[in-house]
Amino acid sequence: MTKSVKISPSILASDFSQLGDEVAAISEAGADYIHVDVMDGHFVPNLTMGPSIVKSIRDRSTKVFDVHLMIDPVQPYIDEFVKAGADIISIHPEAKDDTSACLAKIKAHNIKAGLAINPDTEWEVIKPYMDIIDMVIVMSVHPGFGGQKFIPSAIDKLKAISKEIEKSGRDIELEIDGGINFENIQSVIDAGANVIVAGTTTFTGGKSEYANNISKLRGN
Ligand code: DX5
Ligand code: ZN
Repeated sequence: MTKSVKISPSILASDFSQLGDEVAAISEAGADYIHVDVMDGHFVPNLTMGPSIVKSIRDRSTKVFDVHLMIDPVQPYIDEFVKAGADIISIHPEAKDDTSACLAKIKAHNIKAGLAINPDTEWEVIKPYMDIIDMVIVMSVHPGFGGQKFIPSAIDKLKAISKEIEKSGRDIELEIDGGINFENIQSVIDAGANVIVAGTTTFTGGKSEYANNISKLRGN
């Protein structure tokens, strides 16, 4: 059964000086999820936002907050992001924490848990977690910045993971994250992605363009 395609705009590409208004605008424009890129300047060479920012924008949207933690360590912050209003928390197995313990901690809060894997990480790392995760994020850029070029090797990873999800018989979402635009979105959907992160592409042109950008990504 093919899953419906969801658009998850990354607010990293939004105007941070009006973050609340941007979250409200992109939600009204038709986003399915709101992709929140959390970076600590240690796991990735960039710093963005923490739980207090997530809390401050929580009531500006009723959409799923798809929180992507590019931080290390992760464990000490999970409760804070849950309290801040995250609906999905995705962590990197490349971080030093015990991945199983982190995933269990997220699930203990009755929210969804995801694993995000970097371009240089073999997709097979997700195999031991297939009975607990709700989502896999395939990074199609090296994490840390928006506006980067799509890395084509992500396509084969999507295909392989899509097969693994099928085999698991579990309802696991497959998200692609980084460098997605109007030209390459169909190729990642065809490869099995059903949640599409797009930052630059959705936030281009200002608020009046957000609905058009999202609808164009949907192939309308
Ligand atoms: C990169 C982030 C991505 C990025 C996507 O570390 O995880 O979510 O913000 O932005 P675009 O769509 O502009 O590549
Ligand atoms: Zn991300």
